[in-house]
Parts: sequence; C-alpha cells; structure tokens
Amino acid sequence: MKERIEQVEKEIEQYLITDMASLEAYRIKFIGSKGITKELFSELKNVPNEEKRAVGQLLNSLRQKAEQKFEESKEALESQGGASEKLDLSRPANMDELGSRHPLSLVRSEIIEIFSRIGYSVSEGPEIEDDWHNFTALNFPPEHPARDMQDTFFVEKGENEMALRTHTSSVQVRVMESSQPPIRTISPGRVYRNEAISARAHCFFHQVEGLYIDKKVSFADLKQTLLYFAKEMFGDKATIRLRPSYFPFTEPSAEVDVSCTICNSKGCNVCKYSGWLEILGCGMVDPNVLEASGIDSKTYSGFAFGMGVERIAQLKYKVNDLRLYSENDIRFLKQFTAGI
Ligand code: PHE
Repeated sequence: MKERIEQVEKEIEQYLITDMASLEAYRIKFIGSKGITKELFSELKNVPNEEKRAVGQLLNSLRQKAEQKFEESKEALESQGGASEKLDLSRPANMDELGSRHPLSLVRSEIIEIFSRIGYSVSEGPEIEDDWHNFTALNFPPEHPARDMQDTFFVEKGENEMALRTHTSSVQVRVMESSQPPIRTISPGRVYRNEAISARAHCFFHQVEGLYIDKKVSFADLKQTLLYFAKEMFGDKATIRLRPSYFPFTEPSAEVDVSCTICNSKGCNVCKYSGWLEILGCGMVDPNVLEASGIDSKTYSGFAFGMGVERIAQLKYKVNDLRLYSENDIRFLKQFTAGI
C-alpha cells in the first residue's frame, strides 16, 4: 500500500497540465469521485490495524497534494488567459428590459390616490353579478328600458339570472348592504357591455365608482369633490360643467364635462369643437336605493359618481382609439415607461 501511494504521488507530480482540458482530465483521474485517491481510501479497510494510522496519514497528505496541484494549476491557467481571455470588461452591460405599466393601471392608481387624499377607501365587487346588485337595488324596475339600454351580457338567464356587470354601481349596493354611514369609498373595476367594437366603444372597459353617504351631504359637496378631482387630475386650469341627466339610481342626476385639455378649450376634433369633454355621470343617491340597501333615507343622504378610466386616460395621454388599450401592441405600451 505504501509503495502504491508513493507511486501515485510521483504520478501527480509529473502530470502535465497545460490547458483547461488537461486540468479536467487530471481532476477526474486523481480527485474525482471515481479517482485514484478515492479508490485508495476505500482500500484502507484492508490494511492491517496496526498500520492503519500511518497509512491514513499518508493518504490524507496525498489527497492534499492532489488538490493543491489542482488549485494552483487552475489559478495559473486562469490568470494566463484561459477563461478570462474571452471576457471584455470594458463592454457595456446588457440592460434588462423593465417593461412598463399599462396606461389604464397608471390612471386607475392616480384616481385612487387623488380620492384617498380626501379620505376615500377602495372597495371591490364581483364582475359576474346578480340582477339585484346590477339593476333591481339600483331602482331599475323589471321592465325598465335601461336594462336593454345597457346591452347586458347574460351568463345565466331565468330565475338565477347572472350577468357581467354593466357598471361599477353594483359595488355601491354591496358597500351599503355591508356597512353603515359615514361611507366614503371608490370602487375601480372592469365592466362589460354588448357593443360593437370600434375606436369609440368596446365590449369591456373600466370605471371608477364613487360613493359618499353621511348626514346632510348636499349637491354642493358633490360638485366641489368633482372639481377637486378634475384639478388634481388635469391641472389647476381645468374646470368642470354639469349638465342635467338621468340615471334610475340618482336624483337629481348630472353628466360632467371637463374643459378640453387637448386644445385648452379652444376647440379641436376630440372635443368636437365644443371645448368640453364628458368624463362621468353622477347624482344624489335616490332614497329608494338607500332604503333597498338598508340605509335610513330620512337620516342620511349622499352622492355617487361613475367615471370611465379609458376616457380619462384618453385625455391625459391623447389616445384616440380605444382598441389600443387591449391590443398589446408593444409600440403603444412602451410609451408609458416613464410611469414606472
Ligand atoms: N353607472 C353609471 C354609468 O355606468 C354612471 C353613474 C354612476 C351615474 C353613479 C350616476 C351615479 O353610466
């Protein structure tokens, strides 16, 4: 055994390592898991007991020698060139592409932030909604034409009627059913309507609903809240205009226009030369709606509003075709990297 160890030791000393390939061959031969040193160690059990100690020591130093030669040769090869020859340390790094946030998420976050500054929480509801929350509790009588007007996508007809919600007003009802005033919340979400897809209409889009219920809430509060929102969103110069309108769940109701940010109200093809753009519907919550959701309409009053996120993004980023939002065209999306 001792002679064998000495012989291997010589072999190690004489082994010529000139490049990475011979270094690897050396490693496999002497220190690999099937190499000579391993094999010698496994033979240790056959050595007579009184010699075991001495032979074991020889083996340990053999292994050390083998490993040392490996490390030294490796270092020498690497510093001579070897692998480092291929590295150009002055080469510019490959930057990872970070992607960008979708314009609709940017606007959604901004709306949430603006309202959270005046104490609004965020609430959410399901996109597949029952008839009660989407229509009935919101004061749409069974045969009300508005149910057709909204062009609903039905998931299930009949007794357990379920549909894709046509507006986020359904979340108003859910919030009122589960909490008591004071309520101050906004509900962002996706809504669906059975419309032909064009530059100005899509079968799904996004809304942010707002709801404020407390004692003595007035129309003036609604108007000031919306003016605050318009100025925060579009800049201090922005103004709003309210036009009387109709929704079954609000009375009185209004549609709100914001001064056209694209032409500074001078008149352009986006605002159709009127200087104004419609951004939301709103009104004082109808007492019937409060009662249907378990809120005492004699003690409390409130307002609600619902705005289209696409519309607001269109004004902020001058997007003239709704379809761009859902086509995943990288040339469109990468323009929003600044918003990360
Ligand atoms: N739900 C209405 C729509 O989708 C908007 C709205 C919300 C109007 C709240 C009044 C109050 O058009």
